[in-house]
Amino acid sequence: MSEAYKKFLIPPPKIAPSILSADFRKLGEEVKKVEKAGADMIHFDIMDGHFVPNISFGPMVVKALRSEVSIPFLVHLMVEDPERILEQTIDAGADIVLFHIEASPHSWRILESIKKRGVKAGIALNPATPLSTIKYILHELDMVLLMTVSPGFGGQKFIPRMFSKISDLRRLLTMNKLMLDVAIDGGVTLENVEEIIEAGANVIVAGTGIFRQADIEEATMKLKKIANEKYVRIISSQV
Ligand code: DX5
Ligand code: ZN
Repeated sequence: MSEAYKKFLIPPPKIAPSILSADFRKLGEEVKKVEKAGADMIHFDIMDGHFVPNISFGPMVVKALRSEVSIPFLVHLMVEDPERILEQTIDAGADIVLFHIEASPHSWRILESIKKRGVKAGIALNPATPLSTIKYILHELDMVLLMTVSPGFGGQKFIPRMFSKISDLRRLLTMNKLMLDVAIDGGVTLENVEEIIEAGANVIVAGTGIFRQADIEEATMKLKKIANEKYVRIISSQV
């Protein structure tokens, strides 16, 4: 068992299907399917072709899907200068806004702007970005997202070295008496989700692992079941 679990209770797992890998011809249907199967939130990747070498969609897609489901929207801004589209993203219906620590020198101001609108705020880190970059803003956050692949594309392989980054982050949060959501983004599969929970993450973002499977609902349910069962085993072994 990881050290973090011995000392600190971690929030329960949440499954966040990433629509980047969904069928864009029928996004409404796809998000309804995952909601029905028990997904806890929908993950949106807004990409600008600058911060990452890919262009996806903007806040209009977030807005279009808002009336389709009622679970929270987790919007991952993979853009340079996130301040430019912050208001639009919130107006579109984001419940949690994540921006990259590497994308702006004004993280503090961005966090304040998000919170002023009554929306939750989180920071995302690319694989090579050290945890020390967020040491002094941890207390202001609702979520930290660790990229576990190089950002920009779905369907890549989870970088194994990221397991120790997850447990280092959970330890850092525990030391600061913070029980934040730790999200993992990239390369999640039915095979590695247990180990991801074991390391101390609790928000599981999955694109290919859900939307590129033969049965989207079944894939959501399976991922959720494995994550929950692992979590319960860890928590009950603490008592
Ligand atoms: C990648 C995006 C992810 C992406 C994950 O840069 O941030 O949200 O959808 O896709 P999978 O789960 O296929 O690795
Ligand atoms: Zn993402």
